[in-house]
Amino acid sequence: MTRRPVQIDHDGKTAIVTGGSRGIGRAVARELVRSGARVLVTGRKRPALEATAAELGPACLWRACHAAAAEDAAECVAFAVEEFGRVDYLVNNAATNPQWGPTIDVPAPLAAKLTEVNQWAPLLWTQLLWRAGMREHGGAVVNVTSIGAFAPSPNTGYYNATKAALDHLTRQLAAELAPAVRVNAVAPGMVDTEMAAAIPEAERARLLDGIPLNRFGSPEDIAAATSFLLSDRAGWLTGHVLVVDGGALVANGRSTS
Ligand SMILES: NC(=O)c1ccc[n+]([C@@H]2O[C@H](COP(=O)([O-])OP(=O)(O)OC[C@H]3O[C@@H](n4cnc5c(N)ncnc54)[C@H](OP(=O)(O)O)[C@@H]3O)[C@@H](O)[C@H]2O)c1
Repeated sequence: MTRRPVQIDHDGKTAIVTGGSRGIGRAVARELVRSGARVLVTGRKRPALEATAAELGPACLWRACHAAAAEDAAECVAFAVEEFGRVDYLVNNAATNPQWGPTIDVPAPLAAKLTEVNQWAPLLWTQLLWRAGMREHGGAVVNVTSIGAFAPSPNTGYYNATKAALDHLTRQLAAELAPAVRVNAVAPGMVDTEMAAAIPEAERARLLDGIPLNRFGSPEDIAAATSFLLSDRAGWLTGHVLVVDGGALVANGRSTS
């Protein structure tokens, strides 16, 4: 038997990646385009979207859109269907983390924003794509959650609560949308992106100490796991939360943030 490298192939597939203008979302879009897919990336700020599209080339389209704005999201989905013919994959990656400190002190407007962007928006985009044809032609959804969802944390408790809700939504939708659509999640540990840059330096050193594989994750680590979950190679996987964290959770029993 001839041995060939095993590659994930997304040839001819089409995807929407929310929050695809930088960080993990951009790495996911890059990985999908590199393996043959066409991708629509979204985010609020145009310059970063334009830069991502310029880097990834004609297989990458963009739309400026707040993830939780229902009308704008519907317009993005309609645009993707018009351009691509259909959408096979959805990556619910956009999220926000505007609060640092005890959960008991979270102000109501921040709690509402966290819930809206991190928890409601992934369901909104899944509803839109389901109704735009996924229920007929099938597809795959990956929600980007966090290892913070697994246990209490001193500073990011409410953000983690929204991610725990998204883990549960992943299981709920996996059961509801099968067999047409598989729904899985990837739960990153500490990944070096703009979101992580907001963590104070002393905290970063402490976090690194808690990672057995001795480095923060890269956006590409998360993109590789996402690409696998979207692909046919994960064809019998649904409702799963795949932890990608350099071993932090098994070593500490909890997220270290
Ligand atoms: N980095 C980590 O250590 C880490 C760990 C665990 C989980 N995660 C999860 O991984 C995902 C990506 O994180 P990241 O670190 O790559 O973040 P990032 O570098 O801050 O990028 C976030 C992306 O989401 C977009 N976005 C943010 N708020 C949005 C909104 N309201 N509407 C539409 N787009 C919005 C941003 O673009 P605009 O600002 O232009 O809108 C950007 O494209 C998130 O779900 C995050 O919770 C990250």
